[in-house]
Amino acid sequence: VNKGHGVKGLAELGLKTLPCQYIQPPQERFDTGTPEAHHNSIPLIDMSTCNDPEVAEAICKAAQKWGFFQIVNHGVPMHVLEDVKDATHKFFGLPAEEKKKYSKEQSVTNNVRYGTSFTPACEKALEWKDYLSLFFVSDDEAASEWPPVCRNQVMEYMKGSEIVVKKLLEILMNGLNVKEIDETKGSNLMGSKRINLNYYPICPNPELTVGVGRHSDVSTLTILLQDDIGGLYVRNTETMKWIHVPPVSGSLVINVGDALQIMSNGKYKSVEHRVSANGSRNRISAPIFVNPKASDIIGPLPEVLQNGEKPLYKHVLYSDYVKHFFRKAHDGKATIEFAR
Ligand code: SIN
Ligand code: FE2
Repeated sequence: VNKGHGVKGLAELGLKTLPCQYIQPPQERFDTGTPEAHHNSIPLIDMSTCNDPEVAEAICKAAQKWGFFQIVNHGVPMHVLEDVKDATHKFFGLPAEEKKKYSKEQSVTNNVRYGTSFTPACEKALEWKDYLSLFFVSDDEAASEWPPVCRNQVMEYMKGSEIVVKKLLEILMNGLNVKEIDETKGSNLMGSKRINLNYYPICPNPELTVGVGRHSDVSTLTILLQDDIGGLYVRNTETMKWIHVPPVSGSLVINVGDALQIMSNGKYKSVEHRVSANGSRNRISAPIFVNPKASDIIGPLPEVLQNGEKPLYKHVLYSDYVKHFFRKAHDGKATIEFAR
């Protein structure tokens, strides 16, 4: 009936019950019975003092223990963040036929992709999410290929976050005894970038499905902007419990991706996370994936292995790694086995 109009299209049909393709197996659903513990969430770090050794240490510790933290006073202007959120609502508010121009079937470029769920062709149960994924090649290409309703806002956000991304990577590399980010390391750490605009419409049976299933990111670092609705959960690496990431106004959520886990030989952890569906409000999020260049070969950094430590991962061509991720449904941390 509604094929190609995403879950937003489904939601707008006014369905009273969730279509069966979206019903997740019980072990993947959110346990709505247990109240969340809020005292034990990911660290919140003030970047205005990031040159203090204690702050740098807190960042490295968070990347080791949680793989996640939030930052405030990060230098990305508030209006830039507000504009991206507005632009995300504008894009998804376009008529279905407009959005479909950017779908796999109709898009004239691989750098722009409007879609739904994660890998619908491989999934036993679909995820309750639509997205627009934009790969950054150059300013010129972005200007001609990205949807006009969100192009400038997304670009401002990407540009505005560059300084804090560099700073974070510098701090994290310092924590591994890497004193200088040379050209090769620079490329391995941040040689390419992608941004997703995610839209999670109101769901008739949020308890039966997920917004995003358990996964870790394939990036080096992910910079995530979320609105005030909440629903992102991170797995505590010690207790294995799911911990909510509370929306903090003006903050950005930072997480370690698989590429950084590999390069750091497991010191920094790319941690499983997932998103619940919501029964009463439409949620959006906008993660920037800071990635190695597709043609880069990544592996544990020599500085980390200096002390005779055994490499936990082999070297892999980054584009092969990413292909492997997109060849299957979300499946926790399964992708990293590809680098063993
Ligand atoms: C994701 O990790 O895929 C999305 C996170 C979010 O929407 O908060
Ligand atoms: Fe993610």
